[in-house]
Amino acid sequence: MYKFNNGDRYLVTGASSGIGRQVCMHLLQAGAEVVALGRNELSLQSLTDSALRPEQFAYHLVDFSQSTNQLGDIITELAKRYGKFSGAVLAAGTHNLSPLKTLNIDHFRKTLEINLLSNIAIVQGLCRKNHNIGQGASIVVISSIAARRSDKGALEYSASKAALETAMRCIASEVASKGVRINCIAPGFVQTPMLEKMPVYSPDFLKKLEQDHPLGLGTVKNISQPVMFLLSADSSWITGTTMIVDGGYSLA
Ligand SMILES: NC(=O)c1ccc[n+]([C@@H]2O[C@H](COP(=O)([O-])OP(=O)(O)OC[C@H]3O[C@@H](n4cnc5c(N)ncnc54)[C@H](OP(=O)(O)O)[C@@H]3O)[C@@H](O)[C@H]2O)c1
Repeated sequence: MYKFNNGDRYLVTGASSGIGRQVCMHLLQAGAEVVALGRNELSLQSLTDSALRPEQFAYHLVDFSQSTNQLGDIITELAKRYGKFSGAVLAAGTHNLSPLKTLNIDHFRKTLEINLLSNIAIVQGLCRKNHNIGQGASIVVISSIAARRSDKGALEYSASKAALETAMRCIASEVASKGVRINCIAPGFVQTPMLEKMPVYSPDFLKKLEQDHPLGLGTVKNISQPVMFLLSADSSWITGTTMIVDGGYSLA
């Protein structure tokens, strides 16, 4: 169990659901402060119950498809209000299956806005000259195993995640001298609302996924554990990398 101190403050996006929500609960249980971003207020509000002390948790409603240009300023405002961040976990993301034949470029642009550009804008905001993030900070970005696969119909999602990993590696080399680390985690399939919303979701699809993951289908805890490692000082010599956490999915 990782332990964080009062004043260890983390920004978490996608905090209202799935992996981001589990990361918030894990951080709160470990004593860290969390400033959560998401769209679903009811779900964000219910995270308050996981806080050990009331000042440990705050949330803000932001829709990344509407506000990419403002995200840097939003981060500065949050850092002014709550204090510098010790790091961030960027878990917000959207998934869409669309073969080339029916690909809609405007929709693709929206996916890039959420999965790629918003994350870059947030990291830019965190790393601004006025130090919204502290020395020794760690940023963990949730990519996907899809970044290195070529599944039919997945081009929108896969391309957005591959670009995300490349962008984060470039940024990692720029900010290392400021003592800021940035790493990605690329999960295999994890049981979350994102998976359940896939049009192909069915008992047979689930069974096939179980078979394709030698260690079984992922749980949100399977992802939040390595997130905690990458946030902690135990990973202080790791930056610019992607950790594949996929239960052996990519062995096949
Ligand atoms: N589940 C998997 O199998 C899997 C595998 C590999 C990678 N991933 C990645 O893991 C991350 C978390 O996904 P998940 O599985 O936990 O899915 P999820 O339960 O659907 O959660 C997605 C989160 O992203 C937020 N989000 C989506 N669009 C947004 C927007 N326009 N503005 C602000 N927030 C937005 C959602 O907010 P609201 O709830 O407020 O809508 C939600 O909190 C994603 O980046 C995903 O690509 C998931």
